[in-house]
Amino acid sequence: MSNLSGKHILLIVSGGIAAYKTLDLIRRLRERNVIVTAVLTKAAKQFVTPLSVASLSGRQVYDDLFSLTDETEMGHIQLSRASDLVLAAPATADLMAKAANGLADDLASTLLLATDKAPIFVPAMNVRMWLHAATQRNVAALKSAGCSVFGPAEGEMACGEFGPGRMLEPLEIVAALEKLIAVRSTGSPKAPASRPLAGRRAIVTAGPTREPIDPVRYISNKSSGKQGYAIAAALATAGAETILVSGPVDLATPAGVRVNSVESAVEMLDAVKAALPADIFVSAAAVADWRVKNAGTQKTKKGSDGPPMLELVENPDILATVAQMTTGRPNLVVGFAAETENLVPNAQAKLARKKCDLIVANDVGAEQEIFGGDRNRVVIVDAAGAEPWPQASKAEIATRLAALLAKQLDDRT
Ligand SMILES: Cc1cc2nc3c(=O)[nH]c(=O)nc-3n(C[C@H](O)[C@H](O)[C@H](O)COP(=O)(O)O)c2cc1C
Repeated sequence: MSNLSGKHILLIVSGGIAAYKTLDLIRRLRERNVIVTAVLTKAAKQFVTPLSVASLSGRQVYDDLFSLTDETEMGHIQLSRASDLVLAAPATADLMAKAANGLADDLASTLLLATDKAPIFVPAMNVRMWLHAATQRNVAALKSAGCSVFGPAEGEMACGEFGPGRMLEPLEIVAALEKLIAVRSTGSPKAPASRPLAGRRAIVTAGPTREPIDPVRYISNKSSGKQGYAIAAALATAGAETILVSGPVDLATPAGVRVNSVESAVEMLDAVKAALPADIFVSAAAVADWRVKNAGTQKTKKGSDGPPMLELVENPDILATVAQMTTGRPNLVVGFAAETENLVPNAQAKLARKKCDLIVANDVGAEQEIFGGDRNRVVIVDAAGAEPWPQASKAEIATRLAALLAKQLDDRT
């Protein structure tokens, strides 16, 4: 039986061509015994009729913020609270822009602002609209506010263009919802042994940082964020409330993980401090060692003076800062060491220097395709010694690491 059975979903349908797929989504949810209350935007009614949505959901459809009848039957605040999940599918660029910026000029956007649940957005739009910096900014803001974003998928679009922007298929949305519920519910039907970190809180950093040179240029590195994202996903699956402080990456938010997107090392440290306290801190991000002291406020122009001189200053050491906290230090502080030579001695030196509890060391030398790849080979270095793990997918390494951290945490507390 689906873990969605008996759940109440407030389904917000906005005005995208993919709204026709939402009719099938309602059917799939109803098949799983889900109660679906639908809200249509004015634009959505150009694509699907309230009558077809009401027929499929078997319930009244709401579309008007100022309807006296609707307000008497179920006020908009009550409507925003009366469900287990709030799902926007399709979520137009416009709806997400409103939600990211706190606009509330119709029923759908008002509900998204008034709800006490973290809404889930299923974007669907033309590829240019999706890739537009404004949309990407809005999506990042929604994610960092704790919202989940499912998709979009890549492929041929209704408008004939190709790329990311297609709404996920109804069954893919159902599967993503089921996964989210499984991770979110602490009283999950899974055996406790599979959720050894239930009741624990974890903070993970991932991805590169970007250190501005001027408003359009920056210094960064090749980190894809894949290993850090996989670790956040594994910790959440193991039951930990997980916050992922992420540098700029091109990865989907793992189910059940709250993402806080940042750019620079200084922003990353601030976000980590804001997310504390935690039981576990995993510093998987490739934080730039230096930032530009004399970063320009305007774009630097080529001139007769030759290339500009960049003056670098050291960035804060996020791992050492957290590991050396005198009060509120997480029980387990885990660092990463990406080395091109002398892997274990360098990792052991780092463990001692930073005063962390464990180092995941990986060899990023030329022949190892670690950056951006899906596989990794690591050595676990802690006070007990150095244990090489066999090469495996980043997800497998993350799952094994989550189990190790759960055990070490149990031993310590
Ligand atoms: C034929 C047609 C198809 C559209 N498809 C989409 C779409 O898939 N995604 C999107 O974000 N906007 C799409 N739009 C634009 C939205 O309908 C428009 O931005 C509208 O203001 C959205 O309102 P809403 O967010 O309140 O539903 C489409 C417009 C038209 C005319």
